[in-house]
Amino acid sequence: MHPTQPAPEPLSPARSPSRVVTSSQSGPHPKLEKRVRKHLESRFLAPIAAYSREAHARLLTTWDGRVPLVLDSACGTGESSATLARRHGEALVVGIDQSAERLERGQRKLAASARPENLLLLRADATELWALLAADGVRLSHHYLLYPNPWPKSEHLQRRWHGHPRFRELLALGGVLELRSNWRLYAEEFALALRLAGRPAEVGPVPAGDPPLTPFERKYGESGHALWQVSSRSVGAAQAGNTPVDR
Ligand SMILES: C[S@@+](CC[C@H](N)C(=O)[O-])C[C@H]1O[C@@H](n2cnc3c(N)ncnc32)[C@H](O)[C@@H]1O
Repeated sequence: MHPTQPAPEPLSPARSPSRVVTSSQSGPHPKLEKRVRKHLESRFLAPIAAYSREAHARLLTTWDGRVPLVLDSACGTGESSATLARRHGEALVVGIDQSAERLERGQRKLAASARPENLLLLRADATELWALLAADGVRLSHHYLLYPNPWPKSEHLQRRWHGHPRFRELLALGGVLELRSNWRLYAEEFALALRLAGRPAEVGPVPAGDPPLTPFERKYGESGHALWQVSSRSVGAAQAGNTPVDR
């Protein structure tokens, strides 16, 4: 290096290569089917946090019920939600994350002029908001679940979206579903769980060449990870295997 040339800046933690997901699981979780069936047949009665109820109230005052509703669940900074709001210009696009810090970071980045008018970012537990909206009988046009925390330890099945007791409410909301992950097994398990509930689901690579949809997609892409997508077209409520959901 030339003596006057500045030393390269160290990679920030966000830019350091991301590790490929490793797990003791080599195939779908052996208890996946039993767990999913149990959750589809039972009600989950855990109380709903005040911040999720506030988010629900805000959503209902913002949404007139006449335009399509799109959710970007666990949106992190909401970067993807803004892109999706431009893509679904006719809809209200709601980005939900439980982290106030991530949402605030995203809000700071979204210059006021670039902020789509049909975008709403809410701090909530996404599963609780699903439950409240499902109890209202709301049906989505699209639901995005982009790069959920993988929870690769076998004992953490319940923390994956498809192992969660509120998977039933996720299904009840309907709509075209799209989940993305850098852990192929997560995508395969999610697709299996959807099929158990009577929904069609296909797993394939995330289309190459498109700009990254989310910060995690960018990070994983720069680290050379293969990226997987589950696509599930919308079906009627009866086919989705959902029974009326109580709040
Ligand atoms: C790996 S990050 C992905 C963020 C974003 N979708 C992306 O791809 O850049 C996972 C996100 O899920 C959020 N999260 C996890 N569980 C959640 C829940 N129950 N409700 C809302 N957000 C949740 C975390 O706060 C975090 O922002």
